[in-house]
This record gives sequence, structure tokens and C-alpha cells, in this order.
Amino acid sequence: MAPLSETMKNDLLAVLAPHGQEHLLAFWDRLDEVKRQTLTEQIRAIDFEQIERLYRNRRVQRKLHSSAVRAEPPAAFRLDASKNRFSPDQAKRRGMEALAAGRLGVVLVAGGQGTRLGFEHPKGMFPIAPVSRRSLFQIHVEKLIAVGRRHGVRIPLYLMTSPATHNETAKFFAENNRFGLAEEDLHIFCQGTMPAVDAATGKVLLEEPGRIALSPDGHGGMLSAMDRSAALDDIHNRGVEQLFYFQVDNPLVEVCSPEFVGYHLLAGSELSSQVVAKRAPLEPLGNVVAVDGRLVVIEYSDLAGDEKLVKIFSERSADGSLVLWAGSIAVHMMDAAFLRRMADSADALPFHLAEKKAPHIDQAGRLIEPTEPNAVKFERFIFDLIPAAENAIVVEIDPADGFAPLKNATGAKTDTPEHVKAQMSAQHRRWLTRAGAKVADDVTVEICPMFALDAEELAGKIEPGTRVTEPTYFC
Ligand code: UTP
Repeated sequence: MAPLSETMKNDLLAVLAPHGQEHLLAFWDRLDEVKRQTLTEQIRAIDFEQIERLYRNRRVQRKLHSSAVRAEPPAAFRLDASKNRFSPDQAKRRGMEALAAGRLGVVLVAGGQGTRLGFEHPKGMFPIAPVSRRSLFQIHVEKLIAVGRRHGVRIPLYLMTSPATHNETAKFFAENNRFGLAEEDLHIFCQGTMPAVDAATGKVLLEEPGRIALSPDGHGGMLSAMDRSAALDDIHNRGVEQLFYFQVDNPLVEVCSPEFVGYHLLAGSELSSQVVAKRAPLEPLGNVVAVDGRLVVIEYSDLAGDEKLVKIFSERSADGSLVLWAGSIAVHMMDAAFLRRMADSADALPFHLAEKKAPHIDQAGRLIEPTEPNAVKFERFIFDLIPAAENAIVVEIDPADGFAPLKNATGAKTDTPEHVKAQMSAQHRRWLTRAGAKVADDVTVEICPMFALDAEELAGKIEPGTRVTEPTYFC
């Protein structure tokens, strides 16, 4: 009889050989029992047929381009509300009603690897607050708790991690007493992964002799991860009907903005998106447009290099603004029943392929640290749900009051810790000035969400004429 490990190896070869992926067992004979087990589990979890299909079709142009030429501005609630179907006050009142009814939950996605930032922990742990140095996670949770208190309800947080961020994130929350969130209001769930393949050959890469190079399957992995982890069931059982969705890297986000919630509900929308008015056609934001009566997001990277599309997306109105103006900032309202419906429909979200750098070992077991993109990675994007949503709308916000993404390391041109801190301080300086305080030039300020969630709340707490002459954290 063949030894057990030989049988295991042969079983795995039978899975791999039809797809030309036998090289994954090249180091099998050198691995100890634990490593063989890990590799076996990884191989068993991968759908090699799917990987082969995705790689084979990698060059097929998405149909998008033919339809993108028909792109029109989306159904929107603009900052200049004169032409809006509902006024900001109506929306705010409707949103406040919904909040007070306790039917809202929050989804925060924090599974990304944060490669551009280069921080050695999950991005949510980055100490972004300009004076207090509180983390992104803490700021988000404090906003959520403060909104709940204001409306007399508890708002559950569904926090998505990935194998790259899960353990450290869970520990960070546990060690910090969940930043004040009740235990039953925090649901951490982990998204899935996809293997990286060699861009030239389609062979799945090994990052170590006994470990496949896996990366999170994109923020769109949220849908299946919520389903698998029973988060969707919990949402249903708790009576949560609407979800406010955002990404971990934006500390300026107005969590559960009543106005945004209100527009979403008044429009009867299943999926609404916050957008900013783009200034340049190729600004690095997803373009929300209407095509044949449905909203879709066209990534800026899909425009670049396509002259016809760039021309269409560069058209301007008489006042100089872009006709196709709406740039997505990845803040959404989602109808929970819609998510359930989408989770039940097979392949609701397609995979996007991106060429990226992926460290790996070669056939001799040597570590290769590529300087150029060498691998294809597969990711799902949450905004691909938008075309399936009924009555989808966009709501314009002023980026100064809701969008400061932390993407890059110090030294880059935009979206660095320094840029983000400056935008946070600038917003709080505006609130203080509106409250009648005198803030000296160049002084950094920060307001804890528990102290004041917005300018109106702050106005009731600051004596007009208060002088702020040194960096101050109001809490
Ligand atoms: P980005 O696409 O900006 O990726 O994610 P990132 O991981 O933050 O940074 P880079 O590209 O590696 O430098 C936008 C948001 O989506 C989440 C991220 O955590 C972030 O909140 N995300 C991204 C996931 O939750 N899962 C993923 O697989 C990818």
C-alpha cells in the first residue's frame, strides 16, 4: 500500500493535472506534515476550472466599451438642490425617521492589503487622527456609536476582514474593548481569497514551497462572505432593512448621513451611491453613468487609452462642468433585501483582472520580488451590483465634508497621511469657526465624534470667541 502522503499527493495531482497546475506540488516531498496539510487545504479550496476560464478570457474586451459610448449623466440629487425631486430638508427628516426606527446597520470593508500605503498592520489600525492619533477603526466606531446615541438606537457594525487582516483586526478590537461598541453589535466576518497567477503562463504562484500566493477577492467579495458567515441572516433576524456601506480608508465619511439615507429611501432605491463632481475626465474615481436606463460604474482605468471614450467623458456643459460628472467615492446605501436577492443569484458579481506585483518563488524555490507587474489577480467589485438595483440613484456631496481617502505613503502626490490629516483638521476648523471660535493659522484641530458629530452640535458646545492657539483635541 502507498504511504498516506503519497496517496494525498496523487489525489491532489488528479485535481491539478487537468489544469496544468501540477507544479504546485513541486516541493511536496520536502514539506513536513503541517505544511502538506496547509497546501492540501489551499488546493482543495480553489476552483481551478474557474481560474483557467478567467485567465483564458483575460483579453476579451468587456462589452462595457460598446455600451459606454451611450453613457448619460445618472439620476442624481445634486448639491445645488434647485432641480432635485426632494429637498435636503425632506431627505434629512426621512433619514432621521429611519435612524430612529432602528432599522439601519453599517457595513465597513477592511479586507484590503493596503499595499500602496505600506503600513505593516491592517490599514484600519493606522493612527490617522491629526492630534489624538486615534486609528481609522476607532474614528469610524465612535461615529457609529455617536449616531446611535443621537437617535436613541444601537446600530450594528458588520466589519469585513480578509485572511490578510483578520487576526490583527479582531485582536485590535478585543484589546480596545471594541472602542465602546457592545459585543452583540459587532460582527466581524472574513472575506475569501483568490490565487494570483503568473501573467505570462496562467500558472498559480507559490509564495513559499508549501503555500499558494492568495489575496483577498476584492471588496465585492463582501456579498458571498456575508452570506457564508451568516451576517445576512443576522441582518434579517435583527430587523435591519438598510445598510450604510463604506471603506476603511476614508475618515471623513459621514457615517449614516441622515440626508443620504433619506434620499435613498425617498427614491425607493435599492442601491445608492455618494459621488463627488469630477473636475477632470480621468480623475481616479469610478464614473457613475446611466446606460440604457441603468446606472453603471465605469472605472477610470477603462477610459485611459480609449480615445473615443476619453472624448465622450471630456465633454463639458456651458458652465464648464463635465457632462459625465459623477465620481464614486465608494459610500453606499444598500437595501438588505436586495443584497439577499443578489447573494442568491449565482455569479451576481463578475471578476475583474488586474496585473499586479506578486512576490513568489520560482521552480528552484528562489524568492522573486518583482519590480514590474508579473501576476494576474482576480477581484470582485461591489459597485458591479449597481446595474441590478432598482431605482438606483447618486447623491452628490462636497468632498471637503466626506471624502479623504488614505491610499498612499508619505511622499506621494495625493491621498497620503499628511493630506488626509490636513483635510480632517480643515473640516474641524470650519466647524469651530462657524461656532464662533478663533483658531490661529496653522493650528491643527480635531473633534471627537462623541463630542460633536457635526457643526450644529459643536455650536452648542463652544463659547463664541473661544481662542484656539495650539493643537487641540476636543473630546
Ligand atoms: P483599495 O482598492 O483602495 O485597496 O480598497 P487597499 O487594500 O486599501 O489598498 P492597495 O490597493 O492595496 O494599496 C478600497 C477599500 O476596499 C477594501 C479595502 O480595505 C478598502 O477599505 N477592500 C479591498 C476589501 O475589503 N477587500 C479587498 O479584497 C479589497
